[in-house]
Amino acid sequence: MILIIDFGSQYNQLIARRVREHHVYCRIEPPWISLAEIKALAPEGIILSGGPASIYEKNSPRVDIEIFNLGIPILGICYGMQYMADALGGEVKRAEKREYGLAELRIKDATGIFYGIEKKTNCWMSHGDTITRLPKGFSVTASTVSTGVAATENPLKRFYGLQFHPEVVHTPMGKTMLKNFLIDTCGCRKTWTMKSFIKESVREVRALAGDKKVILGLSGGVDSSVTALLLHQAIGRQLICIFVDNGLLRQGEAEQVKRLFKEHFKMNLRFVSAKRMFLNLLKGVVDPEKKRKIIGRAFIEVFEKEAHKLQGVKFLAQGTLYPDIIESRSTFGGPSAVIKSHHNVGGLPKNMKLKLIEPLKHLFKDEVRVLGKKLGLPEDLIWRQPFPGPGLAIRIIGDVTQARLSILRKLDTILLEEIKENGLYRKLWQSFAVLLPLKSVGIMGDQRTYEHITAIRAVTSTDAMTADWARLPHSLLGKISNRIINEVKGVNRVVYDISSKPPSTIEWE
Ligand code: XMP
Repeated sequence: MILIIDFGSQYNQLIARRVREHHVYCRIEPPWISLAEIKALAPEGIILSGGPASIYEKNSPRVDIEIFNLGIPILGICYGMQYMADALGGEVKRAEKREYGLAELRIKDATGIFYGIEKKTNCWMSHGDTITRLPKGFSVTASTVSTGVAATENPLKRFYGLQFHPEVVHTPMGKTMLKNFLIDTCGCRKTWTMKSFIKESVREVRALAGDKKVILGLSGGVDSSVTALLLHQAIGRQLICIFVDNGLLRQGEAEQVKRLFKEHFKMNLRFVSAKRMFLNLLKGVVDPEKKRKIIGRAFIEVFEKEAHKLQGVKFLAQGTLYPDIIESRSTFGGPSAVIKSHHNVGGLPKNMKLKLIEPLKHLFKDEVRVLGKKLGLPEDLIWRQPFPGPGLAIRIIGDVTQARLSILRKLDTILLEEIKENGLYRKLWQSFAVLLPLKSVGIMGDQRTYEHITAIRAVTSTDAMTADWARLPHSLLGKISNRIINEVKGVNRVVYDISSKPPSTIEWE
């Protein structure tokens, strides 16, 4: 395994994914990880990530300097390289000119980390500091027009530094550089596959759970579905999945979950219909945060009540993914402001005294999808777009009623049919309809109408932190609008949301 020290770069999750693409397992840990913990992980090599700090600033992040005496290869990227230079007796100063963007890299020798790479290749730079004096034993291995030390190495110690980012696509040979480091320098073997992951996890879960029961809140989303399948493989009917139908789901979704998990996979699934309860609680509530809180609380209440009916439950399973763990550690900067309360982040029943099982907590989303496929999850579920916990309630602006839910389900169904038909479903992060509390005048046949407005939202994104409105073809927008106005009673106007995040959010509430 490879240990990645997180100095706060926006790219460090990308580094981890690139390492895993070479079938090498890696972990991201904060710089305050102790030497003893590092030794216990027994990494074959260490990657020091980039970061926003300057090494000469007070309180710049540092990892235990003893890592340089472990006798294992170390690769420093950007800030990571500057930390290495500084720690080993070199000097780093502010560069005369900040270098940002594409640069031509001139490689001295195609050896070491540059083995098999042409002497001129592009790389992606993003730095304001530069190495002005190298530590003893190091030499320059590549430079650019503005940066004398674009890469450095101490081959005897197997320490390497890259000022640019090999993990981004703008460094086309970055993949080869990482491979050279991982496979040739560190001697990692390519053993990290989802097949090996399943075997290992099944063994771990069996050892942990013994003969005790495990409960899991199954939502029908990718993460909880994959968690369910993995645990089912490990402990069979000792796993009890609880599915709460809150009445705020899309057309046919609750039935699909029931059919798939209970009938097809033969899982121990408790299906709780709580539609009326949720709708009653939401009556007259228009404030988005209130809606979210009510739904969050009601979900926990229903879940707990159901769980209490069971005997011998000792574990609660959750589909937490690696980015949630890394981000919640909040290595740098304070916790970000709460913009919307996402009820399913931060946990489920607190007073049930259950131990957590989170079998996906070291996986990235794309790995979870591969895993899902290996476990037999149908394609349409593997590639399902994210759907918020509070469901359609936060896509109905204003009062949530049965009648309005029924309109929104029809809108949503038409939209998704058209998006899928045009091969866009997987390309979009999300695509959905929002029902507005406004009415506008229209004309249908010879009749004046006065009906609702719907807004269509379609965005592209990689992580939901930022998103861009999708440039859907006009012909497709035309078809969607046409179908909606013809097929959905109560709606006579369709608008398209052309705002990006930030400053807007993906959901409307
Ligand atoms: P926003 O609207 O904040 O949404 O840009 C970012 C992503 O999060 C999803 N979302 C939620 N997911 N529970 C969830 O599980 C929630 O309460 C919730 N609210 C928003 C949203 O669909 C988007 O993918």
